[in-house]
Amino acid sequence: ATVTVDVASPQARVAPTLHGIFFEEISHGGEGGLYAELVQNRGFEESRIPQGVQLKNGWLVPDPKPHWFLNGKPSEWRMPWEIKSDYPNWRMQQTGGSAMTIALTQEKPLNASTPRNLKVTVSRIAPGSRQEVINEGFWGMNAVKGDNYSLQFYARTAADYKGGVTVSLQSKNGRTLAQHTFNSIASDKWKKYTCQLQPTETDPQAELSIAFNSTGTAYLDFVSLFPEKTFKDRKNGMRNDLAQLLADMNPSFLRWPGGCFVEGITIESAPDWKKTIGPQERREATYSPWGYWASNGFGYHEFLQFCEDINADAMYVFNIGIACEMRSGTFYGEEKVPELIDNVLDAIEYAIGPANSTWGRIRAANGHPAPFPLKYLEIGNEQHGPAYAKRYNLFYKAIKEKYPQLELIASMGIGDINRHTLDSMHVVDIADEHAYKAAGWAFSHYDHFDKYKRGAWDVYVGEYATNNGVGAGNMKAALSDAAYIMGMERNGDLVKMSSYAPLLENVNTRHWPVNLINFDASRSFGRISYHLIKLMNEHRADQNFAASATLIKETNPTPLFAGGIGLATWDTQTDYKDIQVIKDGKVLYQSDFSARKEEWQKVVGGWDITDTTISMKQEGPQRLALLRDHQFDTYTLKLKARRNSGYN
Ligand code: AHR
Repeated sequence: ATVTVDVASPQARVAPTLHGIFFEEISHGGEGGLYAELVQNRGFEESRIPQGVQLKNGWLVPDPKPHWFLNGKPSEWRMPWEIKSDYPNWRMQQTGGSAMTIALTQEKPLNASTPRNLKVTVSRIAPGSRQEVINEGFWGMNAVKGDNYSLQFYARTAADYKGGVTVSLQSKNGRTLAQHTFNSIASDKWKKYTCQLQPTETDPQAELSIAFNSTGTAYLDFVSLFPEKTFKDRKNGMRNDLAQLLADMNPSFLRWPGGCFVEGITIESAPDWKKTIGPQERREATYSPWGYWASNGFGYHEFLQFCEDINADAMYVFNIGIACEMRSGTFYGEEKVPELIDNVLDAIEYAIGPANSTWGRIRAANGHPAPFPLKYLEIGNEQHGPAYAKRYNLFYKAIKEKYPQLELIASMGIGDINRHTLDSMHVVDIADEHAYKAAGWAFSHYDHFDKYKRGAWDVYVGEYATNNGVGAGNMKAALSDAAYIMGMERNGDLVKMSSYAPLLENVNTRHWPVNLINFDASRSFGRISYHLIKLMNEHRADQNFAASATLIKETNPTPLFAGGIGLATWDTQTDYKDIQVIKDGKVLYQSDFSARKEEWQKVVGGWDITDTTISMKQEGPQRLALLRDHQFDTYTLKLKARRNSGYN
């Protein structure tokens, strides 16, 4: 191909805010993921389905008689807490039942917002036996030799319990890795117990044991085990490896807390930021529409703190009083809207208000007197139509009046800004488009954004991914994502922000086909699209130029996503290293690709790179990358690779 680029005619700039991060509580991305807590259901509040909801024809619908459900029947749900009772005389167990029982109770709650606690009754103790309550965490706890883990729990006892407990980190086969004994927990009032556990061995599949050394009845609540090593050493902080993967993306913003999570399955169970701040043991859990509970340990304050820690602007998405239409469609009437608006204004004040304001003071008391980097608010998630527009207008007006510096995002359906909805909305600063596509879609729709209606608004592609026909995410997906991103870059006058979704997947509980980062209790890796986005952000094109291309006839022509339709992008900041510059048949510059082989190896996953040829023609006085150095187009980059593993 011969490509002519008119460097004298600069076109749209590419926004430095283009790449951000979308976080949602899906696939245990936070709970049992980014949030470093190791105990699952630490407060015993997590039932299968929240109060006020029942299953009807497979759908969750509001229940007029609130109670707790398991498999559609009223039930106790205390997962993943288990009894391990090695009472030596198994016959005695057979005839006399277990030597211990556990049950949820609401007797004498630790505090009003967390009504449940665990009642443990030990009926027999024999010398040498262990009567334990076990928590296996989130598909195992990662115990690392020599690291410190802070344990805390609350306990009270009935008068018949005279002894103490031994807490251990142990292997599944019962081998002790770390242990501490509290000689007595006898008390009719709740008391807090703390200790440090330091494993003598590494076991990524460890579990927490609380062994009771007396007969009688004891009560437990808020059992927490937290690694001392967290990202930036924050107390109640983030898991190091996952937080680092996110920080390495160098995102311009971080969106929180979703996604559908924002909507809730019912309006009553939708998230409320006020339940997510303050002492951990007082935070009410929130049910994620993805089928599990978030303890809210990773709450509003932690989100804002994490944004600051990774140098990203914060984007807070809030519920406008309407639950997910697909789940229950429940909503609050208009009379409740002023209260909801006040709640959002309070959230903003908490983030950026002066330290002597009502909520700024609480932020300061929670350890952060200075304002947090809150810059964007999104009004609802994936909601549109006239009812949405009406509410949007009310929230928009109230927020802008008080905080004109904030950028407000309208939550729209795909392509909504090309349709009627926009007309009923008074002002739109930024419209959120969501785009989950099949493999190759971006190749045939490379001009998708070229056709978008322009107006006073910018577009934020709040969720995008190639997630159909690409397994759990493969090279095909990354190529399609690359083409999609190039479409956004080329339309830099319109598309200013984007975030791939979903972000995180605990591989033990996948709720969405393709996710950017996969992990289990101890390991994590970015899928190919992760490396693609990271590279495209690191070497972000910042300038479009008019371009034309003459394609040499090929047996299997490949579309030229940028040049082919009239524009080429150029990262004017980067000193290109991986390219060959040829003029009049003479190689003027040859970069050393092998130096970056390892980086590329990550990008192509289970393939060994054996040879590479990268060439590019240079015309005109300046170095010019046709698309960019790290792009996957066959015109600019050839990789010879062979498969090295069973990677899918
Ligand atoms: O990213 C997964 C889901 O896709 C989000 O929760 C929702 O906003 C979208 O439909």
